[in-house]
Amino acid sequence: MRLLLTGSSGWLGQTLAPRLQALGHDVVGLDPVPSAHTAIVGSVADREVVRSAFGGGRIQAVIHAGALHKPHIERYTASDFIATNVTGTLNLLEESIAHGVERFVFTSTTSLMISRRIRAGRAGGARQAEWMTEEMSPQPRNIYGVSKLSAEHLCRLYHEQSKLPVVVLRTGRFFPEADDMAHVIKQSDANTKANELLFRRLTVADAAEAHVVALDKAPDVGFDIFIISAPPPFSRDDRAALIDDAPAVVARYFPDYPQIYARLGWTMFDSIDRIYDPSHAARRLGFTCRTSFSELLAELRATGQG
Ligand SMILES: NC(=O)c1ccc[n+]([C@@H]2O[C@H](COP(=O)([O-])OP(=O)(O)OC[C@H]3O[C@@H](n4cnc5c(N)ncnc54)[C@H](O)[C@@H]3O)[C@@H](O)[C@H]2O)c1
Repeated sequence: MRLLLTGSSGWLGQTLAPRLQALGHDVVGLDPVPSAHTAIVGSVADREVVRSAFGGGRIQAVIHAGALHKPHIERYTASDFIATNVTGTLNLLEESIAHGVERFVFTSTTSLMISRRIRAGRAGGARQAEWMTEEMSPQPRNIYGVSKLSAEHLCRLYHEQSKLPVVVLRTGRFFPEADDMAHVIKQSDANTKANELLFRRLTVADAAEAHVVALDKAPDVGFDIFIISAPPPFSRDDRAALIDDAPAVVARYFPDYPQIYARLGWTMFDSIDRIYDPSHAARRLGFTCRTSFSELLAELRATGQG
């Protein structure tokens, strides 16, 4: 398939572009930042750039991963977020429809599901962890979330009007950098990322693979939104205990984790305030992340690091 990949110079794009090429796809990368995977250096916010991207040969599919995201909030204005994430998505949807594109995958974010109340967690008086599903009505807490939710609505609207198949992937965290709250987190970066695999993180390889599966399934799906995150071991019955004493809950599922963690000098978060449930993607897309906390622990055992 000949496809347009936006954000091709980014962290996800650099994993996804070679994966798509290995599957035999002809990938046209579009990004304002030049890279080996970017044929068109330009912005999705520029309608002429987007239009000409469809003109150079028949594009059959679009994967729209290019965005300003959370780390950019400090450096860019709200208008920049709207131009890139909302107008950019609108440009791509309209040109896709005008050029007969057959499928469209939009990279969204679980971040848009976090309201100020959910973010406050136990300190804000939460008595149990939030069980996060696609059924919730998000109330994003910042311009990044608002712009991504607006883009999701555009995806739904244009699907309804044109029947263009659109799959929205609300991915959890897969960034390699340390958390922007690292200064208040007790754990090291590797420890933090391991803990997060229990409820809010996935590997970049899994994020890329979710896009491959979404591309494949888009015509069957029509339109839908999916949370993409490593499968959590927990059940809804654990919600109160996760807020009160997360290490005890994790030890019930992984009895040897305290020993493995102790040898690494790692600790579990005291409290887990939200769990992203990726089961809708498992059921409807047939996609489950390969790497979860369970695989990570097995790896730590096998390499003797644990
Ligand atoms: N990294 C995460 O943890 C995470 C979590 C959830 C969702 N996401 C989403 O995944 C996607 C990829 O994120 P990433 O981690 O690879 O981030 P990244 O910043 O490494 O990559 C994003 C890419 O988009 C490009 N871009 C910025 N403005 C653009 C524009 N106007 N037109 C076209 N491209 C533009 C950037 O130059 C960059 O190469 C984004 O849509 C992001 O919102 C990321």
